[in-house]
Amino acid sequence: MIRIAVTKGRIEKDMCKLLKECGYDTETIENKDRELLIKTKDNIEMIFVKANDVLTFIEHGIVDLGIVGKDTLDESEFTEYNELLDLNIGKCYFALAAYPEYRNKVFNKREKIATKYPNIAKKYFAAKAENVEIIKMEGSVELGPIIGMTDAIVDLVETGSTLKANGLEVIEKISDISTRLISNKVSLKYKSKEIYEIVDKLNKKVKGDM
Ligand code: PRP
Repeated sequence: MIRIAVTKGRIEKDMCKLLKECGYDTETIENKDRELLIKTKDNIEMIFVKANDVLTFIEHGIVDLGIVGKDTLDESEFTEYNELLDLNIGKCYFALAAYPEYRNKVFNKREKIATKYPNIAKKYFAAKAENVEIIKMEGSVELGPIIGMTDAIVDLVETGSTLKANGLEVIEKISDISTRLISNKVSLKYKSKEIYEIVDKLNKKVKGDM
């Protein structure tokens, strides 16, 4: 039996579709209601959790595999996992975004940046040798510039429609993001056959061979 933690929401939907295309039975996942632990006919158990909790379950050896965005991996200080595959879903990118006038603005005091990803933002500005104040938010970070709390944001952009709807624009693209398949290091040692069977199937589908 292989247990997988999947990030809830957009990733969950794309992942379910991908598993189905690989020939896995996804009936119990599609028909789930409020259950949190779902078993499939292929001897796979799945839990659907928030992105950071995927890493928590990997860290504590509760799941063998995790399906999580590169954004969460890059932001986290946890590194005790193996990244097995880029699933080519959940594609988006990190960007510095602001109102257009940000480009020509001269800052007399420390610039303020709103983000859900303080470590990524810190790294980005450190590389540019810019000393900024990072304000951590839990969501809707676009509100930072809208309400005048911050000068810009560091956030994920998928379609760009949230920025557009709020008069903001991408000032600089930071890095590409997609969903990754990761494994617990111990599981990879003791369940390598079962894990690589899944990896091979997903890899073929991702690369378009199936
Ligand atoms: C993410 C991100 C942007 C938006 C980008 O937020 O933080 O706000 O999606 O997508 P778009 O480019 O397609 O408009 P999410 O919807 O996850 O919610 P949140 O703002 O509450 O975190």
